[in-house]
Amino acid sequence: MLVLFILHTNTKNKFMCGIVGYIGQREAYPIVIEGLKRLEYRGYDSAGIALYDGTNLKVCKTKGKVSDLEKRSEEEITTIGNIGIGHTRWATHGVPNDVNSHPHVSNSGNLVIIHNGIIENYESLKKELITRGYSFKSETDTEVLINLIEDVQKQEGVKLGKAVQIALNQVIGAYAIAVFDKNRPDEVVVARLGSPLAIGIGENEFFIASDASPFLEYTKNAIYLEDEELAIIHLNKEIKIRKIQDDSLVDPYIQELQINLEQIEKNGFDHFMLKEIHEQPKAITDTYRGRLLRNEAIIKMAGVEDNMKKFLNANRIIIVACGTSWHAGLVAEYIFEDLARIPVEVEYASEFRYRNPIITEKDVVIAISQSGETADTLAAIKLAKSKGAFVFGVCNVVGSSIARESDAGAYTHAGPEIGVASTKAFTTQITVLTLIALRLARAKGTISSSDFRTHMLELELIPKKVEQALKSDKLIAEIADIYKNSRNCLYLGRGYNFPVALEGALKLKEISYIHAEGYPAAEMKHGPIALIDENMPIVVIATKKGHYEKVVSNIQEIKSRKGKIIGIVTEGDEQVRALADHVIEVPETLESLSPLITTIPLQLLSYHIAVLLGKNVDQPRNLAKSVTVE
Ligand code: AGP
Repeated sequence: MLVLFILHTNTKNKFMCGIVGYIGQREAYPIVIEGLKRLEYRGYDSAGIALYDGTNLKVCKTKGKVSDLEKRSEEEITTIGNIGIGHTRWATHGVPNDVNSHPHVSNSGNLVIIHNGIIENYESLKKELITRGYSFKSETDTEVLINLIEDVQKQEGVKLGKAVQIALNQVIGAYAIAVFDKNRPDEVVVARLGSPLAIGIGENEFFIASDASPFLEYTKNAIYLEDEELAIIHLNKEIKIRKIQDDSLVDPYIQELQINLEQIEKNGFDHFMLKEIHEQPKAITDTYRGRLLRNEAIIKMAGVEDNMKKFLNANRIIIVACGTSWHAGLVAEYIFEDLARIPVEVEYASEFRYRNPIITEKDVVIAISQSGETADTLAAIKLAKSKGAFVFGVCNVVGSSIARESDAGAYTHAGPEIGVASTKAFTTQITVLTLIALRLARAKGTISSSDFRTHMLELELIPKKVEQALKSDKLIAEIADIYKNSRNCLYLGRGYNFPVALEGALKLKEISYIHAEGYPAAEMKHGPIALIDENMPIVVIATKKGHYEKVVSNIQEIKSRKGKIIGIVTEGDEQVRALADHVIEVPETLESLSPLITTIPLQLLSYHIAVLLGKNVDQPRNLAKSVTVE
């Protein structure tokens, strides 16, 4: 069940970065550097760290990854500070370089800042500061902000916390910041608007991070700042949280974290992506557990039950999402229309928000997002709400912006997904959407009780079948070796497996940089067939229950043009085996649930190709895990 309240964020053009900080009795360096490694999925163009021991301040920053920062630190870091802040950046404005990297230091050299976000009015603030004698080394808005804070401190004669508050009231934009002042070595000030910020609370020590992963081994107690809140973290004092705008005090809400370290480590796998692919049986089980009650023959989801009338009276469901989540939405279109007989439209959130769509109070909008922070999806939700539509969020990250902005919703319980290429988020999104469709179908009477039971039973068997599908790993690695040098690849599927073809192509593109396209198998003859020759590998999802005979005909057409066929087939299939160059078998299931199984070999195929090509699987070039920019 989602927390229901509205954020007042300005999410335009946010940076997607990770911030980490520490203040306490330990050495800050290892905590901050290890924390940055865990947050690197948020951006990896450049990285930096600032350490302070009460006398010496050392700032070290570099273009490149956290490993580059670590190398540079070995030579440059001489200070063992107990206060430290670090930053890993995904740049949207200006090239990533050493100077633009964070932390940034104020003109006096006293104030140091890390910042995730963008200050939209930085140019006018900068001009004003220049007239007051300030100078700037970088092109960043962040350096403007730290000097603005310094200017307020000087002009108003206030302490750091107050200066940060006054300065933030002058800025337009989004931020999660951590700031310290050399003159106050026992204090760090943090604030957020539109970018996440968590404070870990230990024994006389505090941790700051974009998410809790950097401090999980030190403490399970955390405060998640809300938008427009500022916290003064002072050693030996209680944390003071205030509203930035009106200065009112906020009671800190300390929550016990439910994530453990194992969930965010590789646990013996070479990559997070591979670990996450293998976690799918558990993730799917965790997602339906407590919701699918087979013995009682019911599906129970609070967000759906509480809003049943809205769903049942809806003229249509509009699904908004991006990337892999959009593909899950396409699968859901088939499930909702097939089982619950509700018309569905699936929209790219980025298009939906800009094309003046017709939305009414009788529409239900389902927003799907793993991270819950995707800017386009968030904006699409706001648009839908402004037109009176009811918005239901399907998110993985608890408490994320989309989860909170939605009127109601359901979480996927995939656990943290760290690999930039989404895998277990996709299958758990489909699981949640299937549960919703089944529940609505039951309420509408569009599914018979025996079909309903069959679906429940089969959904419960999916984790075992995914395990079975994962056993083809070795075979898939061999196939990957044959096709790793291909320049293009086609993915074909029909019906429920058309979105799986799109997803397979996206996976290959994003981690191996091989051009790939997904198509409905029957569309091939309307254009893409021209691409087929003996150099073109074509992955065809040809399972028994999905228009099998038609897909077999499509395979014949490919074969006559000498294309190389990799068939994803149902166990025991002989017909496709006789035609294809390779077949990967998957266990049989209902057609409506088949995407949960057929997607597994496609994930593994792209994974192995990327590994064989020596690509950075978990952090592919140009991408970041949460796309918080338009
Ligand atoms: C998936 O592999 C991609 N990295 C990307 O397409 C992703 O699914 C998309 O950016 C949406 O993210 P979200 O689910 O967090 O909203």
